[in-house]
Amino acid sequence: MKIPFRAIWWTVLVFVFLPLVWLIYNALTGGLGANPIEAINRYLGDWALRFLLIALALTPIRIFTKQAWPIRLRRMLGLTAFFYAFAHLSNYVVIDQFFDWATIWQDIVKRRFITVGMVVILILLVLALTSPARIAKRLGAKKWKQLHWLVYPAGALACLHFFWMVKADIREPIIYGIIFSILIIIRLVERHRKKLSLRGN
Ligand code: HEM
Repeated sequence: MKIPFRAIWWTVLVFVFLPLVWLIYNALTGGLGANPIEAINRYLGDWALRFLLIALALTPIRIFTKQAWPIRLRRMLGLTAFFYAFAHLSNYVVIDQFFDWATIWQDIVKRRFITVGMVVILILLVLALTSPARIAKRLGAKKWKQLHWLVYPAGALACLHFFWMVKADIREPIIYGIIFSILIIIRLVERHRKKLSLRGN
């Protein structure tokens, strides 16, 4: 049975909002523990990274399923990653630091995990701004592809941001790093396979 793309699209749209609904529910019912600001910050950071990895998983899913629909979800999931990353940053600037720009600047310059987080958010911003079809058309396919290649360094740096942030237990960031590496390896293997088949081997 072939599932219509519209059904997949709507299901994914509902799914991307679920973490936000859960967060709002817990914030309103006092379910965020003793340090709600830190809990919100970490929760939004986690989901930004998860959605970035989900967006990066779409090409491998296409390779395995040989279906076109995963690629058509790329924009929605990329924008979702940006949305959660932006909410994570806003929580840090507005609620955590209360617009204390001097401290925020000191953090960006002195704490390497924040420096790296800033680079990731800037990359995601550029990718989000250039994601509409009309902008892609204006840029031209080649330039657009070159620019959107930046999603890979963004994924790697987002894992590094988490790795550098944790002080003792590095298991979680290591798991994200392994997932990211597997996704990249699948792409590299597929590229190599395509090259070989083009050469007629
Ligand atoms: C300017 C940009 C960013 C700033 C200022 C920032 C800041 C922070 C801060 C302050 C923490 C928590 C530190 C603590 O509680 O001790 C954190 C954790 C985290 N951030 Fe960011 N971040 C930024 C961008 C990003 C981006 C773009 C992503 C992912 C795409 C991300 C993912 C995470 C993750 C996964 C965590 C750890 C959450 C956990 O402990 O479970 N951050 N970040």
